[in-house]
Amino acid sequence: MIVVASSNGRIGIAAATQILRQGGTAVDAVEAGIRLVEANPEDHTVGFNGYPNILGEVELDASMMNGRTLESGAVGALTGYVHAITVARQVMEKLPHVLLVGDGASRFAAEMGHPPQPEMLLPETRTVWADRLRPDMNDADIEAIASRTDLARWVELATDPERAKGTVNFIAQDKAGNICTGVSTSGWAWKYPGRLGDSPIIGAGNYADNRYGAAACTGMGEMAIRASTAHSLVFYMKMGLNLADACERAMVDLRDLDGRFISVMNLVAIDKDGNHAGYSSVDGRSYIYQTPTCPSAKNCPARWCPFRRAGAKQDNNEWEKLTNGRW
Ligand code: GLY
Repeated sequence: MIVVASSNGRIGIAAATQILRQGGTAVDAVEAGIRLVEANPEDHTVGFNGYPNILGEVELDASMMNGRTLESGAVGALTGYVHAITVARQVMEKLPHVLLVGDGASRFAAEMGHPPQPEMLLPETRTVWADRLRPDMNDADIEAIASRTDLARWVELATDPERAKGTVNFIAQDKAGNICTGVSTSGWAWKYPGRLGDSPIIGAGNYADNRYGAAACTGMGEMAIRASTAHSLVFYMKMGLNLADACERAMVDLRDLDGRFISVMNLVAIDKDGNHAGYSSVDGRSYIYQTPTCPSAKNCPARWCPFRRAGAKQDNNEWEKLTNGRW
C-alpha cells in the first residue's frame, strides 16, 4: 500500500494514507487527498483561489482513472465549483461518458449536489491577476477585457507569476493491489479561456492500469498531450521496461518535441509492485510518498532530465551522461 503525490499534495497525503490504513480503496484515498489540495487557498495552481484565465475566471481541470477497470472520468474548464476531482469521479461512476467540459461540467456538478462557489478568487489573487495585465492595460481596459478580440496576444504576454505551472498528482495503491490516479489543476495561469491542459486528458496527464502501474504529470500540459506521456510511460512498462527505464523513455519522448512552446514537465509513477519514481526536466524538484507504516510523508528527489530551451540545440552529451547513452 502506498500513496505517491506531487510535492504540493503534502496537505492531503496523510488523509489519503489513513484511508488505506483503514482498508479503504485507492479511489477513495486519491479523492480525499486531492480535495484537501483543492480547498487550500495557498495553492494557486489547484482548486479554490487558483490562478485564473486571462479573463480572471478560474477554470478547473481534473481527472481520475481506476486501474482495476480502466474506467475514467474527467472535467475540463469547470467554473463555479471547488472540487473538480469529485466531479471527475462522479463522471466516471455515474455517466456513460469520460469527459465533460465547460457549462456541461458545471451543470453536472450542480446536478450532483455540489455547493456552488460563485467567487473562486480571494481579492489578493484577483489583484495579482489584474497586475499582470498592467501597465499595458488600465483599469477600464481590465474591466472590459471580456469584450476584447485580441486575447491571443495577451495570453502570450502574461506569464505565470510563480512560473510553476503547478497542478496536483496523487497515485494510490490499496490493500487489494488496486491502483488509482487523480490529477487536479486550475491550469496554466492567464490561459486562453477554454484551454484544457493534460490534467483532464486520460493518457496525457493521467493513466493507471493495475497490471503494469500508473503515471501522472505536472508541468506544461501541452507537452504531455503531444507525447501522450502518462499512457506512454505505462505502455513502456507493459512492453517490459522497468519503472526507471519507462520513466526515462517517457522523458525522452518529451525531450524530442520541437517547436516554440517547450517548458517544464514532471512525472510521478509507480509500477504494479508499488515501487515509485519521480522525474523532472528541472533540477532539484522532488515528490512525496507515504505508506501506512510511515507516520508522515517522505520527500524524494525527482530524477533530473533537462529539455532543450525553445529554439536551442539539445545538449545530447548531457542526456547521454544522464541516461548512460541508452536512448
Ligand atoms: N499540467 C497542467 C496544465 O498544463 O494545465
